[in-house]
Amino acid sequence: MMRAVTARANSNIALIKYWGKADAVLNLPTTSSLSLTLDHTWTTTTVAFDGGQGDADAVTINGTVPTGTARERVVRFLDLVRERAGVTRRATVASTSTVPLAAGLASSAAGFAALAAAASRAAGMDLDERSLSRLARRGSGSATRSIFGGLVQWHAGDDDASSYAEPVACAVDVAMVVIMLSNARKSVSSTEAMRRTLDTSPLYPAWVSHSREDLDSALAAARAGDLPRLGEVAEGNALGMHAAMIAARPGIIYWLPDTVAALHAVRALREEGLPAWATIDAGPNVKVLTSGSQAEEVAARLRERLPGATVSVRRPGAGVQIDAGEAGAREDAS
Ligand code: PMV
Repeated sequence: MMRAVTARANSNIALIKYWGKADAVLNLPTTSSLSLTLDHTWTTTTVAFDGGQGDADAVTINGTVPTGTARERVVRFLDLVRERAGVTRRATVASTSTVPLAAGLASSAAGFAALAAAASRAAGMDLDERSLSRLARRGSGSATRSIFGGLVQWHAGDDDASSYAEPVACAVDVAMVVIMLSNARKSVSSTEAMRRTLDTSPLYPAWVSHSREDLDSALAAARAGDLPRLGEVAEGNALGMHAAMIAARPGIIYWLPDTVAALHAVRALREEGLPAWATIDAGPNVKVLTSGSQAEEVAARLRERLPGATVSVRRPGAGVQIDAGEAGAREDAS
């Protein structure tokens, strides 16, 4: 059995954040999280366990060969799939992303969700979505959620089996406006930043304990169709996460001056009566939760206030998709 399988997954942005590992090997989080999968943020990945190249996995991301940690993470993930599937051959992996890798759109979420789906199927496994979500978690925490479309909850769990994501009911017509301020690669990886926050920030335990309440409020707001309540809790949860990491020793400051300007612009829009609440991840860019019907207006007003920023509208997107056509067509009898 040797076949090439192509899968694609969209990125997601957390409204209630994942920030901290209770188990760094299994990627078990300290808190449950809630995210929105976005449209038009696909990563498409093709995997074949075809022997790779020169006794090693042959990996390309957007046409270039990754090195260092970026490569190691992919190879380690392929090792896990090989171990589970009883496959020994090295693989060829080709991944392309429709959004630039540094666009502040959580590329590892889409990347490892697509890799989990393509690699597991190429290795002959037929996993259901929950199992795929658990597997994607091992590549990157946020990838756990990108298996599913729309609003998605990741149950923290306390072992491999109980830590997975699933879609949740959403009666709110939501959209995200992405404010891209900088293309620069982040100075501290999220893995390192999480570890430092967890180990040294006196504010971290407070954020963790409040996070449960935030999640319950967000879920209730989503069910009730209450966008302002969902927005307020999402913005508060993200600012609290950043407060905790800023208080780490030494402090982690992902924000740039433009990040603060964007936060103030979002507040100004709210004062004008527009629905807009900010969230920020492990980087300087700002994403704005808004309503689907007013997303274009919010984006236009942000462009006026933030010249120099690239502002785009994303709507709820679909979960992971496996291209069965390619899987069948490339089947091989080795
Ligand atoms: O992409 P990861 O698994 O390294 O984690 C990133 C975590 C945040 O994006 C900052 C928050 C989240 O829940 O996605």
